[in-house]
Amino acid sequence: MSSLSSLVNLKDFSLKTLGSFFLQTQEIKNNPLAFRVKDPNRTAGLLFFEPSTRTRFSFESACARVGVTPLTLSGIESTSLVKGESFEDTIRNIAAMDPDVMIIRGGDQLDLDGLSKTSDYSIVNAGWGMRGHPTQALLDLYTLWEKEKEDLHGKKLLFVGDVIHSRVVSSHLEVAKALSLQVGFCGPKSFLPNKAAHQIFDSLNDALHWCDHVMFLRVQKERHENQSDLANYSQSYGLTRENIQFLKPTSFVMHPGPINYGVELESWIHENPRSLILQQVTNGVHIRQSLLYSIFQTRGLT
Ligand code: CP
Repeated sequence: MSSLSSLVNLKDFSLKTLGSFFLQTQEIKNNPLAFRVKDPNRTAGLLFFEPSTRTRFSFESACARVGVTPLTLSGIESTSLVKGESFEDTIRNIAAMDPDVMIIRGGDQLDLDGLSKTSDYSIVNAGWGMRGHPTQALLDLYTLWEKEKEDLHGKKLLFVGDVIHSRVVSSHLEVAKALSLQVGFCGPKSFLPNKAAHQIFDSLNDALHWCDHVMFLRVQKERHENQSDLANYSQSYGLTRENIQFLKPTSFVMHPGPINYGVELESWIHENPRSLILQQVTNGVHIRQSLLYSIFQTRGLT
């Protein structure tokens, strides 16, 4: 694929770029040994200032598979952040150890845009406040692309739940137009944007009937001041064995994780053939291999 030195957002991803990135990812799945960094001394700083299971482990796995050593900061308790050192100083000091790429998860206060413009190393956004989670959107779309025989043109993608707090949705919206996707939102009014250039549904049954595929979103309880919005959430917006029947026979169910069981979904979803949730996780490793390989290739290190 064309050169990629950092990944902070997906705004510049065209249909062609996405297509070649997904094809590369597919080749990596089929032949991982052909996509390794040759120099054994290459490192990636994984700076996870906020909790993560899927993203952190899959980046570590991706590093191992492409032959890059991950240097992981996981949580702030074991670092000098607890002594009052700032995020900026933490990043500056780890950067002084000369990693090739810094993979960063943190809050909106970080300046990943600024870092990507001014740093010698590459920057990867691994979940940035509410601004975006580009590798999650890429792995979601890649998972659908595989199922849809490599063509997502005109598909209707429904997001159910906590849309306004979702960095996953933010990243999806950056590429929806390039892919000619139709986007729909369903949830309580207080969970949805006031003005949206997208289809809005109050009824989950109607929304499930409309879409080609559905992504349930974690209700971010910690971000809601009005807890009354949450009290009856699952009755109206949770997937049940009854309302799943409103989906088309070809529709799949997704969730970026972590799931609130009994709120968005029930654990039976994992036994249901419509679920792509664990395939999303598996593909998360391949998408991140593909990303790291592209970045190291752009840096002339493959
Ligand atoms: N989807 C996702 O970002 O999960 P983690 O928070 O576990 O990384």
